[in-house]
Amino acid sequence: MNNKIIIINGPNLNLLGEREQSQYGTITFEKLKENCLKKSKELSLEVEFTQSNVEGELVNLIQESRKKFDGIIINAAAFTHTSVAIRDALNLFKKPIIEVHISNIYKREEFRQKSLISDIVTGGIFGLGDDGYILAIISMQKLLDNENR
Ligand code: DQA
Repeated sequence: MNNKIIIINGPNLNLLGEREQSQYGTITFEKLKENCLKKSKELSLEVEFTQSNVEGELVNLIQESRKKFDGIIINAAAFTHTSVAIRDALNLFKKPIIEVHISNIYKREEFRQKSLISDIVTGGIFGLGDDGYILAIISMQKLLDNENR
């Protein structure tokens, strides 16, 4: 049964609710976690919800995920635009990956308009606020369900 997923959050997302509400809304990181756990449970997914501000820790998490999880949902935050190391680690994960951004990165500063991971993930959601995480969980469940058939 492929039903174990990890949601990986990059730098500064722990400060959701406090940082740039015009971009990221008022939801707190804790509330986002709660919403994701609830939706995953509804869909019979086992989920681990994680966050790190440290690039190497994210690389380690992604590497370890190869053995432990069937799918990754990732908001790599600022590292989306800079980290070849995170891209390379994700490229080694041979199962579904969904990229999420709360804001529409293509409507923002030029340096945010390039994602180093979009071309290696299964699919992505951006600009739909924190709902993007819920949509990603629903899509992940469908992807894994198809694999289980
Ligand atoms: C973000 C967009 C990134 O450019 C930014 O650095 C973030 C959050 C988003 O969810 O919209 O930290 O990934």
